[in-house]
Amino acid sequence: MTDAHARPAPIVFVLFGANGDLTARLVFPALYNLSAQELLPESFAVVAVTREEYGEAAMRDHLRESLGKYCKEKCDRTIVDDLVSRVTVAVADARDQKSFEALGAHLADVDAKCGTKGNRIFYLAIPPAGFAPTVRALGAAKLTGRNNGAITRVILEKPFGHDLPSAMKLNAELREVLDEDQIFRIDHYLGKETVQNILMLRFANGLFEPIWKREHIDHVQITVAETVTIGRRGAFYDATGALRDMVPNHLFQLLSLVAMEPPARLDAQSVRSEKARALDAIRIVTPQEALRDSVRAQYVAGRIGDEVVDDYRQEKDVAPNSTTETFAALKLSIDNWRWAGVPFYLRTGKALTRRYTEVAIKFREAPISMFRGIDLDGLRSNYLVLQIAPDEGIRLQFNAKTPGPSLSIARVAMDFRYADFFDTQPATGYETLLYDCMTGDGLLYQRADGVEAGWRAVEPFLEAWRSAGDQGLGLYRAGSAGPAEADALLARDGRRWRTSS
Ligand code: BG6
Repeated sequence: MTDAHARPAPIVFVLFGANGDLTARLVFPALYNLSAQELLPESFAVVAVTREEYGEAAMRDHLRESLGKYCKEKCDRTIVDDLVSRVTVAVADARDQKSFEALGAHLADVDAKCGTKGNRIFYLAIPPAGFAPTVRALGAAKLTGRNNGAITRVILEKPFGHDLPSAMKLNAELREVLDEDQIFRIDHYLGKETVQNILMLRFANGLFEPIWKREHIDHVQITVAETVTIGRRGAFYDATGALRDMVPNHLFQLLSLVAMEPPARLDAQSVRSEKARALDAIRIVTPQEALRDSVRAQYVAGRIGDEVVDDYRQEKDVAPNSTTETFAALKLSIDNWRWAGVPFYLRTGKALTRRYTEVAIKFREAPISMFRGIDLDGLRSNYLVLQIAPDEGIRLQFNAKTPGPSLSIARVAMDFRYADFFDTQPATGYETLLYDCMTGDGLLYQRADGVEAGWRAVEPFLEAWRSAGDQGLGLYRAGSAGPAEADALLARDGRRWRTSS
């Protein structure tokens, strides 16, 4: 989120897991897009690291193919050739310290040839169990220092632990070797333009902030609904569940951007401090409250469009008696002056009828109704809806008078759609994140305190669900809008979920 579009300083991009899925689908195509926009450094090299010997020619072919497959538009041959020609390979395995010494020698060689001045980004596109050992091995090979002011940064991607203690342990392990400002934790939701725009909407306009508080807001709904099932990710997902997979990270990014106080400055430290403070203010609930204020459910066989879906428990690599939730809904309270008494309802699930992500802010009703005697059934609540995906825009819903002599009310909306105003560049969603890391701007990355505050808030729910086993686990049909219990969670408070559109 840097304002000037300058090329970053010379750098070597050291890509661990270079033969993996994340590299092929997102990271390398993002480097291509940055190159096409002339936003890569003039002196730029990629060192593709694998655990087993891969071979330079094979790696270049593999990366070239991944661009063909995953770039959204046809690639420019010259840019591809240039980018691929900057790739060299190295083998490194954290169980073999010598391989990291050899990596160090290779990097020194690249610096000498490419003029990259010892500046390095290590991108760990590897399973999370490899994070701490790899960082430790980098440290032991003296590759994490900042000799003569050289840049050394490490990028990692969720999951950051699977609960609070494991997240704290990982953070502590990383900080044994790195300073916090060298650690760039990706939550890919912060790469989405529409998510970044929440900051802009709130703090670049005078219009919204005065009403952005308990006096005017009735409640907030955050929905991340997915149509996908767990596909080939059974082993990972069954050990994780919807809550861990989505809430302390992606949904909490949305929640913290909506709930945070205005930062003193639009810089990484101020913004992340305010976001962490908002998460820190989420009420830590008792086990009884956790069960009362949450819903968890699993999908059973159904249809999503033309696709026939089996029971979750029959998916590959899922335990036949699994109690893992594929849908989670929570009611949270934020205990501060701005939000006291304003519930935040969150829900997310797989195998649902429609894919959409949005934050819906419902405003309080008019204090008195001046329209006695007319049919108010059609009266619609005032919502400000931040549409994140697949629709990208902002919608304000309100009531208007239907034309004509009789007094009746119509439900209308003002819509802003990104596509109507802006030309979009082909993007994977990683371009801004990678560019920011190269320029050292951590605003869109997660800081340790934010990660830990997120886990702290969901911990009571995880614990209550674990103790309850399959008691209280709901079911919903694949292709439906989710379990009835999620509707009941709001109905109990006299509210209901906004239906999308
Ligand atoms: C990932 C989760 O972090 O986010 C997936 O592990 C989920 O389960 C995905 O499908 C959702 O991302 P998006 O960008 O499609 O909303």
